[in-house]
Amino acid sequence: MARVLSTVSHSLKEYRLLPRCTRADGTPQHVSLETRLCRHKGDYMKLRTPFTSAAMQAVTSVEMAVAMAQLGGMGVFPVSQTIEAQCTGVDRVKRFKAGFQTDIVTLSPDRLIGDVVKMMDANGYSTFPVTDTGLFHGKLVGIITDKDFDVRYDREYRVADRMKTDIQVGVDIDDLKTANQLMIKYGRGFLPIVSSEGTLLSVVFKKDLDKHIRHPHATIDSGKRLRVGAAISTHPEDRERLQALVEHHADVIVIDASDGFTEYQQETIAWAKSHFDTPVIAGNIVTAEGFRYLAEAGADAVKIGMGIGSGCTTQQVKGTGRGQATAILEVAEARDRMAQDTGVYLPLIADGGLRGPADMIMALALGADTLMMGNLLARFAESQGEVMRNVHGELVKEYWMEGSKKAHNARRYAQSSELFFEEGIVGQVPYAGSVYDKLPLIAQMIKSGMATAGCRTIDELHRDAHVELQSPVALQDAGVHGITPTQSTLEV
Ligand code: IMP
Repeated sequence: MARVLSTVSHSLKEYRLLPRCTRADGTPQHVSLETRLCRHKGDYMKLRTPFTSAAMQAVTSVEMAVAMAQLGGMGVFPVSQTIEAQCTGVDRVKRFKAGFQTDIVTLSPDRLIGDVVKMMDANGYSTFPVTDTGLFHGKLVGIITDKDFDVRYDREYRVADRMKTDIQVGVDIDDLKTANQLMIKYGRGFLPIVSSEGTLLSVVFKKDLDKHIRHPHATIDSGKRLRVGAAISTHPEDRERLQALVEHHADVIVIDASDGFTEYQQETIAWAKSHFDTPVIAGNIVTAEGFRYLAEAGADAVKIGMGIGSGCTTQQVKGTGRGQATAILEVAEARDRMAQDTGVYLPLIADGGLRGPADMIMALALGADTLMMGNLLARFAESQGEVMRNVHGELVKEYWMEGSKKAHNARRYAQSSELFFEEGIVGQVPYAGSVYDKLPLIAQMIKSGMATAGCRTIDELHRDAHVELQSPVALQDAGVHGITPTQSTLEV
């Protein structure tokens, strides 16, 4: 007979942090969200903010991965794409030099203005460098912007007839400070960087520099390049993918599986560890037993969550899964016991179902070190999905799960292509503007909650927080009641 446990599985939404004394030096501005992502070279790879983007097609674009790293977290590229596409994504993040853009559209002087108008409409750019060959590393001969021609009369003219040739450039500059000073001096929002021979090397946009200045705590490697993660599956053909990702300098490998408590996962970790130094994050698991299995297999961090992703149908289809609060609590206890017994602390990542800062702080308080979000990040301009209007005319973005037919990530679910069934849906989420504006606000809300709980660091939160399960009636009181909202202040 199956073993029926007497325990009850709880959601993060059922717990609350109790206030504890906030010291004078424990207000939100004193709270640090620095955390351990995974073991790394005898120490830990750290993040300044505990945020990672889900390894999902709809979430982690290059723009999202760059933003996550600039904001002190990390993006993880999904496995559901070709090895080449995934490695190109990793390259683009690693090549990104705050503000110095090296993959920008360039034009040749004999292009028609009509074509330029179409390109501007299609991709929203308003400024193009013009090179002799039309290619990026050609000789810079001019700049054309939407202010240089009249759309009504100039469509049959060539770029050469309308571009500005008297251009201010930076020569062989590769530091931000100098680029910024030059842009201030020239009063420009755009600065082409050329070699001493006039070859276009990169382009600096003031708006990107401003982002960098506003977010000085980027997650960077020892060569000051942004860090990025990439997912693999446990299928044998993904060994080639793993090798390619390591060669392209992915900083972390994430094994993406809905159920990580498998011999396949153990074999994959063993193979990865015997060939490369790159840290391996394993998962997903939801029990202490699963955690110990992956810890013994050599994982450098473990991801928790099953059946609780926002568009996930695993629990309905397969009846497998667990409330995320109970999963984190049980796994964190096993992790702490292991740390006591062996001296090895294995970071935990709470993956999925995090609807906002209250869920996030609870996941951290119950023992997670880092958080992984899909839905919440899919809402931002930087995610992969298209912005569109729904039937009510509201701006939304498409969000599709990895187990949906659209992503068709059969390997994540140990499924075959012939008998593929969906474990996730396709839907829409509200459009929420730029992640650069909203994620710092969410971080501030978490800091504020930590300050109320009397904790200044995530370690203190793990050790000192007082967390209480709420009755359903107490939770009703905790929500808005007796007032009809005219404006939501809870939207991210
Ligand atoms: P969300 O933040 O609640 O949207 O959850 C995102 C997480 O859901 C991902 O990081 C995955 O762990 C998980 N996930 C992604 N796609 C699927 C799916 O199709 N079914 C079940 N879980 C999924």
